[in-house]
Amino acid sequence: MAIRLGDVVPDFSAETTEGHIDFHAWKDGKWAVLFSHPRDFTPVCTTELGAVAKLKPEFDKRNTVVVGLSVDPIDSHARWAQDIKDVTGQTLNFPLIGDPDKSIANAYDMIHPNASDTATVRSVFVIGPDNKLKLTLTYPASTGRNFLEILRVIDSLQLTAKHKVATPADWKNGDDVIIVPAVSDEDARKLYPDYVTKKPYLRVTKQPS
Ligand code: BEZ
Repeated sequence: MAIRLGDVVPDFSAETTEGHIDFHAWKDGKWAVLFSHPRDFTPVCTTELGAVAKLKPEFDKRNTVVVGLSVDPIDSHARWAQDIKDVTGQTLNFPLIGDPDKSIANAYDMIHPNASDTATVRSVFVIGPDNKLKLTLTYPASTGRNFLEILRVIDSLQLTAKHKVATPADWKNGDDVIIVPAVSDEDARKLYPDYVTKKPYLRVTKQPS
């Protein structure tokens, strides 16, 4: 069954390009991005893994660990790393899980048989420090992901986990935010004294720090 927002994500043991991991213990109370790609030695995936390697310092700043997965074995991942370096200039600097028996792919519903019986789709799972699923995305094999968008949603998830706010369309870190409807006007005046009412249900304030 699909994993839904708020569920504790399945724990698993896996071999990766950086050694054995037990997922929940490995993430160790941090935020995590677990993402799958269809196969090694494929063009879109090569560009994606280079893009993630380049952004690794940005994930680190957000106390977020990153881990990739495909159904290819880790010796294949390790050989492919040289191609990723040749093409994108990036050294693989995060673990890639080998999942040849598809046990993790199946637990996370990363194989969509009407797309492909054998390859994982491009799934993204953003998982909180409490090991609960905060966000998921699914892209087809033919569409590479925008990992700046993943960083943007992590900024929103981390902000809204701490404050009684939500983020509007196309919000970027530092932009104004929305006070959640569950906060009364009286409490909003105490929490965010400079807020502006655009509609009774739409109250805007500066991003809390
Ligand atoms: C790719 O990563 O380029 C790819 C993988 C599977 C199908 C289509 C494209």
